[in-house]
Amino acid sequence: MELRVADHPLVSHKLTHLRDQNTPSPVFRQLVEELVTLLAYEATRDVRVEPVDVITPVAPTTGVRLSAPRPVVVPILRAGLGMLEGMTRLIPNAEVGFLGMVRDEQTLQPFTYAERLPKDLAGRQCFVLDPMLATGGSLCGAVHFLTARGASDVTCICLLAAPEGIARVREEVDAAGIACTLVIAGVDERLNEKGYIVPGLGDAGDRLYGVVD
Ligand code: PRP
Ligand code: URA
Repeated sequence: MELRVADHPLVSHKLTHLRDQNTPSPVFRQLVEELVTLLAYEATRDVRVEPVDVITPVAPTTGVRLSAPRPVVVPILRAGLGMLEGMTRLIPNAEVGFLGMVRDEQTLQPFTYAERLPKDLAGRQCFVLDPMLATGGSLCGAVHFLTARGASDVTCICLLAAPEGIARVREEVDAAGIACTLVIAGVDERLNEKGYIVPGLGDAGDRLYGVVD
């Protein structure tokens, strides 16, 4: 697994604002979008392109365009949905598939409650969006789901990660021989006894969309 941690003052500035418990939902959503757009630039470094001819007002030349089949962007509901707009702003012609996952707050095990993705992802590059990588259960589940359908490589974009979660994803994808890249805005200290990232930002889904229970 390749790990890329953003090292940029603008990312750190926005992340700090995001962590603040006093940041209200509308600002939180805006910051998430902006952060994803910044991370997406790095995350799409290896997106496949092919040569294409173009005629400028001055001369013909050769450029590139995204190759077919198009990349697939997969937000993990609910919180990953907050990252979708920021990602598709950068690659508007990507396809979008959805995975609904929720972790049981007692056992910390993820449960997949919805999916809307092509049955055949053979040869597709997938970009998974989830703001929080805590124990890693949800992200590992998503990566296995996509590669079981044939995805050739998976890039995961997260805002905050715990070292425990990074280690778990690395262990599982390396053991399974999955080509996986993890792009993160910040790595935090640890998980607490409830499986929350410390210092983190709290419950990302609740901060984006409000408390459900
Ligand atoms: C959060 C987050 C991840 C997961 C991370 O979602 O968005 O999907 O927890 O935890 P893990 O690494 O320990 O699996 P949650 O299950 O709270 O669902 P939500 O997005 O609907 O709030
Ligand atoms: N999910 C969240 O939303 N936040 C955490 O800190 C851990 C899991």
